Amino acid sequence: MESRGRFSSRIGVILASAGSAVGLGNIWRFPTEVGQNGGAAFILVYVGFVFFLALPVMLSEFVIGRSSKSNTVDAYRMLSPGTPWVITGFMGVLAGFLVLSFYSVVAGWTMHYAVSSLLCRLSAGHDFGAEFNAFISHPLLPLGYLAAFLLLSHLVVERGVQSGIERYSKWMMPLLFIIIFVLVACSLSMPGVADGLRFLLRPDFSKVTWPVVLSAIGQAFFSLSVGIGCMITYASYFGPRMRLVPSAIHVCIIDTLVAVTSGFIIFPAVFSVPGLSVDAGPGLVFITLPNVFNAAFSQIPPVGYVFSLLFYVLLLLAALTSSISMHEICTAFIHEKYGLSRRRAAWVVTLLCFVGGAACALSFGPLRGLTIHGMGIFALFDYLTAKFFMPLGGILITLFVGWKMPRMRVMDELTNGGTCSRLLAQLFFFLIRWVAPLGVCIIFVNGLR
Ligand code: PFF
Repeated sequence: MESRGRFSSRIGVILASAGSAVGLGNIWRFPTEVGQNGGAAFILVYVGFVFFLALPVMLSEFVIGRSSKSNTVDAYRMLSPGTPWVITGFMGVLAGFLVLSFYSVVAGWTMHYAVSSLLCRLSAGHDFGAEFNAFISHPLLPLGYLAAFLLLSHLVVERGVQSGIERYSKWMMPLLFIIIFVLVACSLSMPGVADGLRFLLRPDFSKVTWPVVLSAIGQAFFSLSVGIGCMITYASYFGPRMRLVPSAIHVCIIDTLVAVTSGFIIFPAVFSVPGLSVDAGPGLVFITLPNVFNAAFSQIPPVGYVFSLLFYVLLLLAALTSSISMHEICTAFIHEKYGLSRRRAAWVVTLLCFVGGAACALSFGPLRGLTIHGMGIFALFDYLTAKFFMPLGGILITLFVGWKMPRMRVMDELTNGGTCSRLLAQLFFFLIRWVAPLGVCIIFVNGLR
C-alpha cells in the first residue's frame, strides 16, 4: 500500500479544514435556516452551539485523528482495540456517504445555475420557481450535473493529500474569500440593505422552540463538518507540530464568519425586491435569488450579470472543497481497509455516491412518490445525517475522548507536548468531557420527541 499522506504546512491544514467546513452548509443551508427560524435569534443560538458544543467535538476529532494516524474506522480499532467503539467509525463512513450523495445533488444544481448565469439565462425575466421545479424534476439533467460534480471531487481526491486536497484548497479558498468580499459589496449597495440587516440583527426569540434548537445544533455540526469523523480523517494527516487548539478555533471562526457573511449577501438582496420572501426554504438561492439578479440586471446589466455568476461560482467552489473532505472519509477507509490503491478506492466511492445521489436527485422527479416517514429520499438523507448521525456521533466522539482515552494522552495532544497553554487545554477538556456530550444529548432527546 502507498504510504500515508501528510499536509505539508500549517496554512495548508487550516485552508483544507476550513475548506471542508465552509460549503453549501454556510451559503445555502444557513440562510435557509435563518430565514425560516427567526433570523437573529437563530444566529445567536447557533453561534453559542458552534463554540461550546461543535468546537469541542472538532477538537476531539483532531485528537483521535492525530493520535491514531488512521482512517475513521481504524482509529477506534487502534485506540481501543476489541471494543464496540469501532461502530462509531462505521457510522461516520456511512454518514459521509449519505451526506456526499445528497450534497452532490445540490452542488449539481449549483453547477447548472452557474452555467445558466454564464449564458445570461437568468436575466431574461422568467418564472424562476417553475423553472427550478422543472429542472430538479427532470429525469436526466440533474443526473448529468451530479456526475460532473462527483467527477470533479474525484479528480482532487484521487491525487492524494498533498498534491490533491492541500494543493487545491490553497488556491480555491483564497478565491472563495475574494468572491465573498465582492458579493458583500454588491449586496450592501442594494436598496433593501436596511431591512435585510434588521432581519439579520434583530432577534425574535418566540420562534426558538426545541425543534428549532435541534436544527441549530444540526446546522452547527453540519457546517463545521463534525460528528462523522471527517476531521478525524484530516487530522490523521497532521504533522506532530500542528497545534490543535488554535487550528480548531481558527476553523470555527472562519466558518462562522462565512455563514454570517452569506446572510449579509443574501438578505439585503432579497429585501431589495418587493414581494420576495426570506423564508422560501431550500429554494431561497435557486428561486428567490435569481429574481434579485434579474431585477439588478434590468437596472444595471453588468452588475446583475457579475453578481449572479460570481454567486453560483462561489457556491460551486464552496461545495467542492467540502465534498472532497467527505469523499476522503470514505476513500481513506476503503483504501486502507481493503488495500485498494487510492485511485481505485476513489472510484468505488464516486460510483457508490453516484448511485446514492441519483436516488436523491430522482426523489424530486420520477421517484417523488417514494417516501419513508413522509420524507422523500433526499429529505431523508438530509434528516438522517444532520439531525441524527451528526449529533449522535458528536456525543460518542466526545465521550470517547473525554472518558475512554487516557487523560494524559488527550492533554498531551491538546497542549502539543506541553508547548501550548495548559489552562486552555484544561478548559477544552472540561467542555469535551461534560458540556458537549450533555448539551448535545439534551437537545438531541428533546428535539427528536
Ligand atoms: N461543512 C460542509 C458545509 O457546510 O457545507 C458540509 C460537510 C462537509 C458536512 C463534510 C460533513 C462533512 F463531513
